[in-house]
Amino acid sequence: MKKFEIAVIPGDGIGREVVPAALKVLDTLCEVHGGLRFETTQFDWSCEYYLEHGEMMPEEGLQTLANFNAIFLGAVGNPKLVPDHISLWGLLVKIRREFEQVINIRPAKLIKGVKSPLANPKDFDLIVVRENSEGEYSEIGGRIHRGEDEITVQNAIFTRKGTERAMRYAFELAKKRRGRVTSATKSNGIFHSMPFWDEVFNDVKKDYPTIETESIHIDALAAFFVNRPHMFDVIVASNLFGDILTDLGAAIMGSIGIAPAANININGKYPSMFEPVHGSAPDIVGKGIANPIGQIWTAKMMLDHFGENELGTKLLDIVEQVTEAGIVTPDIGGTATTNEVTEEICKRIKQL
Ligand code: NAD
Ligand code: IPM
Ligand code: MN
Repeated sequence: MKKFEIAVIPGDGIGREVVPAALKVLDTLCEVHGGLRFETTQFDWSCEYYLEHGEMMPEEGLQTLANFNAIFLGAVGNPKLVPDHISLWGLLVKIRREFEQVINIRPAKLIKGVKSPLANPKDFDLIVVRENSEGEYSEIGGRIHRGEDEITVQNAIFTRKGTERAMRYAFELAKKRRGRVTSATKSNGIFHSMPFWDEVFNDVKKDYPTIETESIHIDALAAFFVNRPHMFDVIVASNLFGDILTDLGAAIMGSIGIAPAANININGKYPSMFEPVHGSAPDIVGKGIANPIGQIWTAKMMLDHFGENELGTKLLDIVEQVTEAGIVTPDIGGTATTNEVTEEICKRIKQL
């Protein structure tokens, strides 16, 4: 029996609705499969936890998490209770950084039975490799309060090491896929970081002569996501560009509620963290209609991470059977609840 120990952080908002749903699916899959078990430990770290304790997680929180094989997270953020920059930097971003989860893998592809908002989408299947530790997400900068002359400065950090490893990750991934890497740049408009980004990309690509490459400015790339997503295989992007591009990727799939993601620690020192692209969705919380598929597909990425690719593929097949049968939540045109979608997936797993 293979056993994996998972730290579960449902977090805020619909995180608390879709995480139990995905865990139920995982449990059912393990029951049927035998040979595999996920032992989960729940942590209630969230904005409510902050109101009670003055911090998003206990001081020894990271040490506690370090003992697990992986972290399964829902979403963080309840701006009515706690400002986002405090909640996110105190939990989600903190874990990504301290655990050196330097790569964020975010696939987007057409799913059977889910209508893309694009008029005539050709089949697309792309992965954004988002640099996950530096770039525009930096604590360096400052604010000068001077009345009308108030100034705020935000410094973006791009190291050669960080940039190169994200690019190499993208190239290695492309080798196992359709052999194409697109770099998201903006070297025409951003003076220091993006010409550097291009230079590193041009250096790295020399080591991958069989991979087709292209550099596209992020503004044009965003448009190409809409009018020719089928052209893309792997896209490598900086932290902020990757963030924006992956909500767009989710949208062209049909809904942000179905898009999965994985924050990968590539040096094996710390656990990786699996959390979907979407946030805590305060506008639909408590209604029972959050789409659980993003979180369930994220669980599939966790299975893949542990080498259980066959099981992961089976799980995604079943999810697609259910979407094809039209048992889906309102964000993708259905009337089903979170629970109904989850139960249907579990029922079909049991018939495996
Ligand atoms: P969001 O992703 O939470 O919501 C955007 C829109 O998508 C909303 O209309 C929402 O209802 C919808 N949506 C999202 N997930 C859905 C699902 N599973 N099913 C159906 N509809 C879904 O983004 P936001 O509104 O910008 O952010 C809300 C809060 O979440 C903020 O505090 C933000 O900082 C935080 N956030 C957290 C994460 C994370 O923890 N990884 C990611 C993004 C945003
Ligand atoms: C995401 C989110 C986070 C990010 C926020 C909530 C800090 O948007 O995971 O995509 O920007 O990385
Ligand atoms: Mn985002």
